Amino acid sequence: MLTRRGFLGTAVPAAMATAVLNPACAAQAVAAARQLPAAAGPPGNVAQDEDFWAAVGRAFTVDRSIVNLNNGGVSPSPALVQDSVKRHQDWCNSYPSALALLGELTPQVEAVRRQLAAAFGADAEELAITRNASEGLQICQNGFDLKPGDEVLATTQDYPRMIQTFQQRERREGIVLKQIQIPVPLDDPEQAVALYEQAIGPRTKLILMCHVINLTGQVLPVKSVVAMARRKGLPVIVDGAHALAHLDFRIDALDCDYYASSLHKWLFAPHGTGLLYVRRDKLGALWPLTAAAPTLNENIRKFEEIGTHPLAPTLGIAEALEFHEGLGPARKQARMLYLRDWWAKRLLQQPAVRLHTSLAPGAASGVATVSIEGVDTGKLRAWLWDKNRILTTGIDHPEVQGLRISPSVYTSLEELDRFCTAMERVASGGLPA
Ligand SMILES: Cc1ncc(COP(=O)(O)O)c(C=O)c1O
Repeated sequence: MLTRRGFLGTAVPAAMATAVLNPACAAQAVAAARQLPAAAGPPGNVAQDEDFWAAVGRAFTVDRSIVNLNNGGVSPSPALVQDSVKRHQDWCNSYPSALALLGELTPQVEAVRRQLAAAFGADAEELAITRNASEGLQICQNGFDLKPGDEVLATTQDYPRMIQTFQQRERREGIVLKQIQIPVPLDDPEQAVALYEQAIGPRTKLILMCHVINLTGQVLPVKSVVAMARRKGLPVIVDGAHALAHLDFRIDALDCDYYASSLHKWLFAPHGTGLLYVRRDKLGALWPLTAAAPTLNENIRKFEEIGTHPLAPTLGIAEALEFHEGLGPARKQARMLYLRDWWAKRLLQQPAVRLHTSLAPGAASGVATVSIEGVDTGKLRAWLWDKNRILTTGIDHPEVQGLRISPSVYTSLEELDRFCTAMERVASGGLPA
């Protein structure tokens, strides 16, 4: 059973876990999202406009007594998204539910598909709406026919569930998973292309790669790896869980065939939403995870044949897109990098601080991983949370150990300074007893 302690590794007071938002505050936050002030100038300038970002922050309903630096795991949604989900959920329970869920909302779902396609550079007929990145990736990872002895190529830094998916195929069907190592940090992402290429052998049938590595925020060169693999006739499944709506790019510019992402991370969409892009001419050959009628074989909707499921989160994606476009994708990326550099450059002045993420332009996202020489990462994370109510993510991987710091657009510089002050105290004097 998932207990509060089991989830965070730290106790959460019951009152905090059950706090309910004052409806008047929620209404103000909805209004704030729709009335973002005008911000002038190029993205790099807007990234430093604290008045603009303070207004963005007021669109969320987050508890400001907590500094949440784990937005990469899953993000809070702004109030207008929460409001949309509630509105649709209420309607699905007042109108006959079977009519609502099994047909009448289809035109709205299709409208959301078209909005997603326009926002991220795809044809709507190539975009499935999934429940998360795991679902989209597993559709691809399990959807190729492979024979015993066939190899699939990934890295040791791919997301554990995605590695486990291939390991299950190893146990079940006798395929072989080969994993390469990516240097930490990697200043020049293009160097990763050669690492993938050198590992390709005569039995390699498939490549899985991250667009952004969750352990460090490292960016990998999707377009170059896809081009190299295409020359060798190999498909590449791209794990974009941390990239979409965080980095400013279009899926069609990557020229890939398979791309999956969560939407509840950096799009701030309702929890339990994701997307899967499959290039149109690849649809027929990819098996869905849950069976679909043969008439749907060439139809992207075959990946959505999962049975009855809530549509309120799907429809709430529309408001998340409205908010995303209001922030401006380029301004959002610039702010994320500005926040990362704000804390990372300050902490790097401490001789004991180690950064496991490159700050070189283009090498990483707004997420970065840090440790303090001689200080146990688990104890540091627990102290930051238990004594300071600063939430970070502990990374304990053979190739990188540290705290993953993922602020968001609602994070203030003052909150980052609170984190830095706490870290500086430990870096200079060790963990308080
Ligand atoms: C790189 C990567 N891939 C896949 C996932 C799975 O995402 P989800 O839990 O939304 O399915 C995550 C989650 O953190 C991730 O970081």
